[in-house]
Amino acid sequence: MNTIIVGTQWGDEGKGKVIDILSKKVDYIVRYQGGSNAGHTVVVDNKIYIFHLIPSGILYKHKICCIGNGVVVDPAGLIKEIKDLSLSGIDIGNRLKISPLAHVILPYHKILDQLRESKRTNKIGTTGRGIGPCYADKINRFGIRIADLLNSRVFRDKLNDNLKEKNEILKKVYRHGGFDFNTLYREYLNYGLVLAKYLCNVTSLLNNAIEKKKDILFEGAQGTFLDIDFGTYPFVTSSSATAGGACTGSGVSPVKIDKIIGVAKAYTTRVGEGPFPTEFPAVFDKFMREKGNEFGATTGRPRRCGWLDMVMLKEAILLNGISELAIMKLDILAGLKSLKICTAYKYKGKKFREFPYDLEVLANAKPVYKEMPGWNSPIDKIKRYQKLPGNAKDYLSWLQGDLGVKISMVSVGSSREETIFI
Ligand code: IMO
Ligand code: MG
Repeated sequence: MNTIIVGTQWGDEGKGKVIDILSKKVDYIVRYQGGSNAGHTVVVDNKIYIFHLIPSGILYKHKICCIGNGVVVDPAGLIKEIKDLSLSGIDIGNRLKISPLAHVILPYHKILDQLRESKRTNKIGTTGRGIGPCYADKINRFGIRIADLLNSRVFRDKLNDNLKEKNEILKKVYRHGGFDFNTLYREYLNYGLVLAKYLCNVTSLLNNAIEKKKDILFEGAQGTFLDIDFGTYPFVTSSSATAGGACTGSGVSPVKIDKIIGVAKAYTTRVGEGPFPTEFPAVFDKFMREKGNEFGATTGRPRRCGWLDMVMLKEAILLNGISELAIMKLDILAGLKSLKICTAYKYKGKKFREFPYDLEVLANAKPVYKEMPGWNSPIDKIKRYQKLPGNAKDYLSWLQGDLGVKISMVSVGSSREETIFI
């Protein structure tokens, strides 16, 4: 069984936990897009692990974890992640496999990311990790791949061309001092040497595994509305965060994919700028952020919080082909008198049930809400769906009915154990 896990909102839905739980049952776990802008949190035995590049499945012994060609890799960050894991007693051994075709993030990508942000009129609020500029070089056919770090002549020529261009831009447009060729050249050749033992043809590895009826889990980063095509452009990331990205980002054909599971928070959050129709008013926003500990795992920034949005979820189900949903952080809604669910948007007298692509509509849309009564008692100790308070069951069953998709998992706390399987 080959399964893709995707975020259905703006990232931070709790994909890390779902992936951790499902990893147990598979043989391979694959990251296929994004880079260290992602922050996937997993809590095991009261210990918190935050993953940026390595699939969280690495916590289970014997699982093979892959970084596909669609990912952009910051080698220094990756090497640190490998070291930190081994310091906390996780033996990676030869279980990490990196595609040589993945593109490399260089320091000028990060600086350009940050400097461009600082000059933009409408800021995106990127993570500053160099994601956009690195993908831009890839599409521009100017990028450097991990394979290049292992060939000193190829790398020299590519880096030379890149630095000539980047240093000009840095100096003339941004008054930045630029980068020294020799320093970067030596540093990155060295990263190549360190990472060499993890490189492998991930595409044939996965396709051979499929041939042998092994199970693969594709670990999406970010979320549907951060997707470069279908997200709230330009307030998006630079990769295909929807399910299709799993195929192009790993070299596994769409006909080999069996199932797509969507992950949705029981409310909505967003880090960074951009329209957010169901965003809470300031005071309630602060209250819910603290209640749900909604602070970014990568940048520590406070996440903006809002009600659940069915217009978004329906669009996500359609775009990704989702047949199963995991609802996360339901426990955070406990204690609220009433819960709102956005069923449509209104703008200039017109009702939108489909996600609008006009940024102006989205930015000014007034949500149409359905209200449901909340529940008072905490639910984090509950293990079975039947034991949930009636109003929590009503909330879930209304969602399931309206979305037409099965809710197969409900999270009521951050640890593996605090999960209800339906
Ligand atoms: P996970 O995988 C939440 C957001 C940034 C910014 C926009 C573009 O943990 O869900 P980028 O640095 O990618 O160019 O920033 O995307 N963003 C995320 N928000 N979770 C993430 O990943 C994100 N990765 C990027 O805040 O608004
Ligand atoms: Mg995150």
